[in-house]
Formats: sequence, structure tokens, C-alpha cells
Amino acid sequence: MTNPQKSRPRILSGMRPTGKLHLGHLAGVLQNWIKLQEEYESYHFVADWHALTTDYADTSELRTNTVEMVMDWLAVGLDPAKATFFLQSRLPEHAELHLLFSMATPLGWLERVPTYKEQLDNIRDRDLHTYGFLGYPVLQAADILIYKAHFVPVGEDQVPHVELTREIARRFNGFYGNVFPEPQALLTSTPRVRGTDGRRMSKSYGNSILISDPPEVVREKAAAMMTDPARKRRTDPGNPDICPVFDLHKIFSKKETIDQVNRECRTAEIGCVDCKKLMAQHLNCALAPIQERREPYEKKPQQVWDVLEAGTNKARKVAQATMAEVRAAVKLT
Ligand code: TRP
Ligand code: SF4
Repeated sequence: MTNPQKSRPRILSGMRPTGKLHLGHLAGVLQNWIKLQEEYESYHFVADWHALTTDYADTSELRTNTVEMVMDWLAVGLDPAKATFFLQSRLPEHAELHLLFSMATPLGWLERVPTYKEQLDNIRDRDLHTYGFLGYPVLQAADILIYKAHFVPVGEDQVPHVELTREIARRFNGFYGNVFPEPQALLTSTPRVRGTDGRRMSKSYGNSILISDPPEVVREKAAAMMTDPARKRRTDPGNPDICPVFDLHKIFSKKETIDQVNRECRTAEIGCVDCKKLMAQHLNCALAPIQERREPYEKKPQQVWDVLEAGTNKARKVAQATMAEVRAAVKLT
């Protein structure tokens, strides 16, 4: 008998625990993961060690951020019966592989990673001149390669990390024999989601609408959203193409509404106040079933930890098997 689970290509992706997720995560990453769990053997994990590379000085929020984020995963329809969800820090095998990789990874490879310099320049409130922060992509390579993942579903910004993972795999195989397949980034086009202030939706900008925001909060946030700045009076025609409210219509409203707004904004038939109300209505409709699924987990967060524990046990088997191979290849037996 063939087991369909076994013959599927494997994907692996991690997310740093940032707490409650927003619409940018939903329309980008999560919708993508939901599709992938049908076709791939999917592994998704909370990258809590990766969070420490920047937030090492204050870990007080780590546990809540983890449980709130995974609650959102489960609420949006990611399904533990179809995919494996686990917690990185419960798998010391990742750390062991990271250490072995770190021995053979040239410093220059890490210093050249574009996100490294960028974050050093941009994040000024913390000291990121640390060993761990430089090694961030080495840890990520260990995460990916320990599962011999074929594909890594990530955003554009993570492509250099997957590239580096391939180089680390090649170097390891060159020294110790063929252990690791080279994974590929799995890029999917994600819709633009801007926050209430018109910038990219991001927790750190404070411009997010959360997946778990109750209907009245969604309405308030929608009402406060930036629109086409050239549309100063109700009678001025607007341009939906540059309006963040219309971004959200395109994702959450039904086709008739999208077409209507697209037309009536340009002719000033519809005003921004009504347009936002309409958007909030559709958005709340889309969020209602998600929040309904979230509720039992909110009442019993232990269930979320149980899901992570079951997934971690499953992942551990794969990770341990790879590490046995790795130790043998490196002659550490
Ligand atoms: N670096 C990723 C991010 O910031 C998170 C991550 C850690 C990851 N390990 C991974 C993603 C392995 C994919 C595969 O989003
Ligand atoms: Fe944006 Fe809607 Fe106002 Fe047009 S009518 S500018 S799409 S909020």
C-alpha cells in the first residue's frame, strides 16, 4: 500500500513568535500554508531561538507570543491532522546541527547576507553585534536541512537565507559525503497589504488590523484608515489603486463590491466613510469563522501546547534520524 503522506515533497517553514498575527500574515503567509498542507508534507515551527537573536535581553513575552501566534495558525485553518507544528527550542538537534555547520561556514558568507547589514543599520535600540545574530542564517540552514526539506515557502526577503542554506549543504556534502539535498525557496505572489497609515502592515509600525480583532475594533480601525490623500472632499473623485482600503476590499470583499468601489470611487459616487464601512463588513464576515475557531483555544490554551508537543514529537523522529547520519558522516560516532 502506498502512503500518500510519505510520497509528498516536504516543505518546512518557520515563523518568529511575534504574538497575535495581522491581516498581512493572513493574506500572505497563512493562506499559502493552508494551500500547501493539502499537497505537501508540511512542517511549520515557532522559531523561538531566532526571536532571541534580536530579543535576547527581554524574554518575558516569549511564551505568550508563541501561544497567541499558534492560536492564529489553528484558527485560520491550519490543521494538525494535515501538517506538523512544532517548537524549535524543544529540539536540541537543531542546535547541534547549527554548531556543526558553524564550524565550516566562512564569516564572509554571513557578513554578505543582505538582511544582516540592513538590520544592523535599522535596529538601533538593541546591540546586534552578537555572535548569535551573525549566525542567524546558519541556524536557519540547520532548521531546513535537518528535515531534508525540498521546498521552503518564504517571502522574497528570505531568499538569500535559502541560498545560503544551499551553499552550506553543498559545503557539508563536499567535506563529509552526500547527506543533504539542496532545498529550494517556494515563492508565491502575495497580495499587497498596507496598514491603517498606508505603510506596509507591520506590528512594529502599530498600523495593524489583527486576525483576532473583534468586529467593533475592525470597524474603528477601518474608519481611521488612510485613503487616497488627494481625495480631500466627499465630492473629489478618488483613485482606489493607491488606497489601502481598496487593498483590503480586493482581498476580503466579494467581486460585485470590488467592482462597485472601483467604479464609484473614481466618480465620487461613494464616499470614503461608506466605503470603509463596507470593507469592514466584508472583513468581519471573513474573520467571523476564524474567530469562532479561535475561541476554544483561547479558553484552553493548553490545547495549543498539546498540538505543539505532538508535532514536536513527530519532528523529533526526523531530526534524530538526520543527526545520526550527520554524526556518522562527521565521524563523531
Ligand atoms: N528567518 C525566518 C523569518 O524571519 C524564520 C525562519 C527561521 C525560517 N528558520 C526558518 C523560515 C526556516 C523558513 C525556514 O521569517
Ligand atoms: Fe479609498 Fe474607498 Fe475612499 Fe476610494 S472611496 S479613496 S477606495 S476609501
